[in-house]
Amino acid sequence: ITKERNKKMKRDSFGSKLGILAAAAGSAIGLGNIWKFPYITGKNGGAAFILVYLFCIALIGLPVMVSEFVLGRKTQANAVGAFKAIEPEKPWYLAGHLGVATAFIILSYYAMIAGWIFSYMGRAVTGKLMTVAPDQLGDYFGSIIGGTTESMFCTFLVLLITAAIVISGIKDGVEKYSKILMPVLLTILMVLMVRSVTLDGASKGLEFLFKPDFSQLTTKGVLEALGHAFFSLSLGMGIIMTYGSYINKKENIFKLAVQVTIADTLIALMAGVVIFPAVFAYGFEPAAGPGLIFITLPAVFDAMPFGTFFETLFFVLIAIAALTSTISLLEVVVAFAIEEFKMSRKKATIIVTFALYLLAIPSILSFSAWSGVTMFDGKTFFDLFDFMTSNIFLPLGGLLVCIFVGRVWGTKNAVDEITSNGLFGFEYEGVYNFTIKVLAPAAIVVIFLNSTGLLNK
Ligand code: PHE
Repeated sequence: ITKERNKKMKRDSFGSKLGILAAAAGSAIGLGNIWKFPYITGKNGGAAFILVYLFCIALIGLPVMVSEFVLGRKTQANAVGAFKAIEPEKPWYLAGHLGVATAFIILSYYAMIAGWIFSYMGRAVTGKLMTVAPDQLGDYFGSIIGGTTESMFCTFLVLLITAAIVISGIKDGVEKYSKILMPVLLTILMVLMVRSVTLDGASKGLEFLFKPDFSQLTTKGVLEALGHAFFSLSLGMGIIMTYGSYINKKENIFKLAVQVTIADTLIALMAGVVIFPAVFAYGFEPAAGPGLIFITLPAVFDAMPFGTFFETLFFVLIAIAALTSTISLLEVVVAFAIEEFKMSRKKATIIVTFALYLLAIPSILSFSAWSGVTMFDGKTFFDLFDFMTSNIFLPLGGLLVCIFVGRVWGTKNAVDEITSNGLFGFEYEGVYNFTIKVLAPAAIVVIFLNSTGLLNK
């Protein structure tokens, strides 16, 4: 019986190198890359912003990602269990709870936004989106997100698909679907890129992306780049830690983190190459903000030959990117529930998904019936959830990881784990120590003060 039980309790794990990469890159690559990165780049003037972003990714994002991976792999536990395993005497596990809570809240509204994408995808395939006059697209977007029933249904659909994948476990769920979805995403992105750069007038868009004009760059832009680096790499909420716990000692963690980081960055840049040349070629505004993909792009596709086809591909692309991210968010919470409450994966997935749906409702209603319900400086529920997680919990989670690895567990132990106790070389120990102990924490504190508005007071 014990044997049987041991077998049952044995932790699931990734089956192949490619599977790990697909799942981790799938988590990192999401709405952040295809929806947010292009519009904040547009807002901040293009290439100069991108350069700053690249620095943030390489100097701060990468070392923090390595730290999360090693914490997970060392302890082979969920985000809460990982802290407990290394420091059982002190309340560091609360940092894990913070991560799980952050993932839970983010997923509740991320699923709603992914739901909008599903709505658009449906309307793109049927050609309905094409029939909307370009100057009506703003109102149209408003009516979709304000249409409670549809939003409720699409959010539910996103959560249902995510749950169906997570319920099958790591190897047969997360890994299997990531390995199918990520190559599809890459293929679609390539097709769209070729289409966009071969349009007449595309070069202006490429110039916007790749020719830096530093006069456009503000301090606020720099800080936004730093904050987005965290969000885009899925750091600060135990996701990378949880995925790290399903990796075995024979993997070179540093190499993996570099690959995930490069993939995430390349995809964000490619999304820019899809969007801006087309936006410029048809004479639209690059600085449209959050409505860029929902309002500007449909107008761009409208003007393009075979627009319906490319529009459909585009929304399928973002839907896939969003799904591989919702999977990772759900997995963090489910792994926690399984191990800390000794639940079966099935039960944990069902309960968590149900709770998530309940929490999504206030966000959905923020765009309709409850749009007038506001708190803390006029924030709706959605604004509040987004603000709390992106601006407070994520930086705080990242900071705690740095302090924990830098000062409690020690970078010496982290480096032993990075090298798998000497199996692999690691030439960047000095840079790594400095980043985790000094540079990253300092940078995070500054982002935090900025994004909460404390810096401007
Ligand atoms: N990194 C994902 C993106 O860029 C978003 C994400 C954030 C995913 C937090 C999981 C957790 O869209």
